[in-house]
Amino acid sequence: MKSKSSDRHAESIEDVSGNLTSRKKAEQALIESEERYRTLVEASSDAILMIDGNRNIISCNPAFLNMFGYASGELEGKSIKSIHLSDEKYQAFGRLVYPVIAKKGKARLEWDYQQKNKKVISCEIVISPILTPDQKVKAYVCIIRDITERKQAEAMVLQEREQLAAILDGNPIPTFVIDENHQVILWNRACENLTHVPREKVMGRPVDSRIFYPGQDRPLLTDLVLKMDKKSIEKFYGDKGVRPNPTMPEAYEGSDQLIVGGESRHLYFLAARLRNAEGKIIGAIETLQDISERERLEKQFIQAQKMEAVGTLAGGIAHDFNNILMGIQGYSSLILYNLPPENPNYEKLINIQAMVRSGADLTKQLLGFARGGKYQAKPMDINELIQKTSTMFGRANKEIRIHKKFQKNLYAAEVDQGQIEQVLLNLYVNAWQAMPSGGDLYLETKNVVLDETLVKPYSFQPGNYIKISISDTGIGMDSRTKERLFEPFFTTKEMGRGTGLGLASVYGIIKNHQGIIDVSSEKGQGATFSIYLPATEEKINKEISPASEIMTGTETILLVDDEETIINVCRDLFESLGYRVLSAGSGKEALEIYTQNQSDISLILLDMIMPGMGGGETFNALKEIDPQVKVILSSGYSLDGLAREIMDRGCKAFIQKPFSLQELSEIVRKILDGVL
Ligand SMILES: Nc1ncnc2c1ncn2[C@@H]1O[C@H](COP(=O)(O)OP(=O)(O)OP(=O)(O)O)[C@@H](O)[C@H]1O
Ligand SMILES: [Mg+2]
Repeated sequence: MKSKSSDRHAESIEDVSGNLTSRKKAEQALIESEERYRTLVEASSDAILMIDGNRNIISCNPAFLNMFGYASGELEGKSIKSIHLSDEKYQAFGRLVYPVIAKKGKARLEWDYQQKNKKVISCEIVISPILTPDQKVKAYVCIIRDITERKQAEAMVLQEREQLAAILDGNPIPTFVIDENHQVILWNRACENLTHVPREKVMGRPVDSRIFYPGQDRPLLTDLVLKMDKKSIEKFYGDKGVRPNPTMPEAYEGSDQLIVGGESRHLYFLAARLRNAEGKIIGAIETLQDISERERLEKQFIQAQKMEAVGTLAGGIAHDFNNILMGIQGYSSLILYNLPPENPNYEKLINIQAMVRSGADLTKQLLGFARGGKYQAKPMDINELIQKTSTMFGRANKEIRIHKKFQKNLYAAEVDQGQIEQVLLNLYVNAWQAMPSGGDLYLETKNVVLDETLVKPYSFQPGNYIKISISDTGIGMDSRTKERLFEPFFTTKEMGRGTGLGLASVYGIIKNHQGIIDVSSEKGQGATFSIYLPATEEKINKEISPASEIMTGTETILLVDDEETIINVCRDLFESLGYRVLSAGSGKEALEIYTQNQSDISLILLDMIMPGMGGGETFNALKEIDPQVKVILSSGYSLDGLAREIMDRGCKAFIQKPFSLQELSEIVRKILDGVL
């Protein structure tokens, strides 16, 4: 066995024998090794530093001096504290690092230091102890690498990533992104709001198609676009009109009515494949836009335009038609006026007049739809109007039970009585026709407040409204009928039963009263029409019912109309009432005649629409000659914007063609006697 003492002995032998040469060799080797290490340390681009147990600097390499901005020799013997940002940092470093070294033999961490000029640098530092043979710490070696640039780059990347995430998350268009394994990596806030599915439920897994197609397990467009599986795209989305996006490669778009988040919405969706900078496919993105509101507005706009165009047409027809009816009405009432009832033609003439009246009713419907203004708006009690019209209607239609529920102290509404009666009767008649074997008709009134959100789509003022509901228990209607029922000439009734003008005129009238009309109905479930009319603060004036006798006179009347038939029939009407008549075929002629006969002429019946100088212009010129001139405006159109303007300028009255002898006699007498 080789003892320790024999080892020592061997050593000493060698020591003795090779004394000089071996020591020299050893010294030489040491010098060489020390030089190698020094070169290594001095050439290192990492800062290398040795500190003692009290954390004073023993030595450091040029990289360290360079990194921290000190001159050689400047730091030796000084505390390492001077490169820390503060005393607190220095203490904290100590508390953090030395226990780790004691436990693990070394520590590695990132730490901020300061250069001599106080500039902060971020460093990565590895610190390990140099131990004495008895394991005591003699010193520490620190290797420090300046990572400021890397840190800044990392911070920038992080910031960019956060910014991007914020943009995607805050983007108001519902968006989700899947990775190449079909797993969700983005489900933005708008997507959460749309689907009512929180991101925690979907992140990191494939999208559940039932979120968009309740009860259906089917591939989503994003999944198919990711694989660019054109066959499946066609198979699953062909019927939804999905097509390649015309501007973006590898993107498909389409729209569909879906039930999402419990609500039926019309969604426009766009799915695109995502590639990274190298062109590698990294996933797919899908955006979903709710276009229901836009579609509704577009439809409303087109509908409004259509209604306006048809309205103009209808107004024109009504005007010409009324002139014709005026002739028939006038002549037949003239014949009747002079005919004893026992005459065999008397009955026939009464029939002619009845037919003229139904013709006039038709044009009234047309005008109700077409006109742009109200005729004679007065504050009215709507309960009373409903009471009156429904009693009349009920008397004629006994198979219908009428139930009324009227609001007490119902607000007044400023309405044209005749028009609103027309509206109510149209709705009653429709309800009656929808209940061929009888049924119930519910009439209800209510004071309501419509707020901003309710009136916004109609661009009306929020405030107090009167709500009239008219419900029946009839056949109801499908959604196609509901969509079109306010269109003029839309009818589901057999030929000869309906003209399809009832609701068109209801719509026109309510609109001109700044009101809203709405319908709710299902097939076989009856129908409810709701009308909202703006309330007025004005007091209700009780209406005075007109007298029904024919009133005569002897004054001179000037007739102004461009249509000869009208001049002729009116002349005959006036003359049969005892008046003297002058006539003019144009505004210009009227002015000449009036200038010459001003003192004789007591009243002018002025047509509103004439070629050249129209009724309005003629009225102004007449007024200039005599500010007190008495004029009745007459037209085949009803009192719309233009006529209203003339009335506002001081015209006494308006009479709509066709008018009867009695109507004419009454209005003329009232004006001549100064009642109007
Ligand atoms: N209360 C109702 N119940 C069921 N369907 C209705 C009701 N009211 C209207 N409709 C439907 O709307 C259509 C249009 O109604 P509108 O009053 O405009 O015309 P009409 O009644 O057919 O003809 P007109 O009123 O000109 O005689 C009707 O043909 C019918 O299909
Ligand atoms: Mg009708």
